[in-house]
Amino acid sequence: MDLRPIGVFDSGSGGLTAVREIRSILPSENIIYFGDTSRVPYGSRSAEILLRYARQDVRFLRTFDIKALVVACGTVSTTALPRLQAENADLPMLGVVEPSCRRAVSVTRNKRVGLIATAASVRSGAYERTIAGLDGDITVVSKACPLFVPLVENGRFRPGDPVIETVAREYLEPLRATGIDTLILGCTHYPLLTEIIADIMGPGVTLIDSGAAAARVLRQTLSDRGALAQRDHGTLTLYASDQPEDFGALAGQFLRRPLESAVQHVDIERY
Ligand code: DGL
Repeated sequence: MDLRPIGVFDSGSGGLTAVREIRSILPSENIIYFGDTSRVPYGSRSAEILLRYARQDVRFLRTFDIKALVVACGTVSTTALPRLQAENADLPMLGVVEPSCRRAVSVTRNKRVGLIATAASVRSGAYERTIAGLDGDITVVSKACPLFVPLVENGRFRPGDPVIETVAREYLEPLRATGIDTLILGCTHYPLLTEIIADIMGPGVTLIDSGAAAARVLRQTLSDRGALAQRDHGTLTLYASDQPEDFGALAGQFLRRPLESAVQHVDIERY
């Protein structure tokens, strides 16, 4: 048993969809979450800048003596994860790419898998490479959806909202026409759009939530190491690098429950 916390980070609030999944299957764990709200979005940045940001995010979370770290950001997972893992070899660290690719490979029947993600994630080719390594017969059709993150961060994610509905149709209708039967939501902001995406893609397309896939791998990793916590219930502590009050309001909606404590501010440039 290991009662130390799990660290989780994302560029903003999107990674909270992964936290929601982690809490539902690992309710005893303490979680420390960092949302880099002063530098969101990550998805339009270069690999060099992303690595610098991600190193600071990891350094901050490591000040808490964490037992594992979840990179709940598709963009950092696709561009910087191997470097971060090599630099923190003593810490179990997982991203969202491999878990969601494994799930997609096991779910697809017609071997046509779609990917929607940020521009940086799509540009990296990481999902295509990972899927090719798992099953060389699968075709991957990718689509960058750069407007999704700012819309979600601004609370425009509800079905019926004309702005998000219009943007989603423009991105997704061409993807539906390619005949995919599985779609990876390769950015942790996108599960907030599940209803809208499912409606456009139709019932024949299975959506893969990358945070949920990562949560299952995290449970396995901790269990293999004998590091699961056993206590009544764990806590969630939230940090943001800008406007913690706004982040707190959005976080409650993402987590679908009131927050246990106020979001704390961190000056991430100090790390
Ligand atoms: N939620 C993140 C991801 O999974 C980051 C999106 C962004 O900041 O552009 O890619």
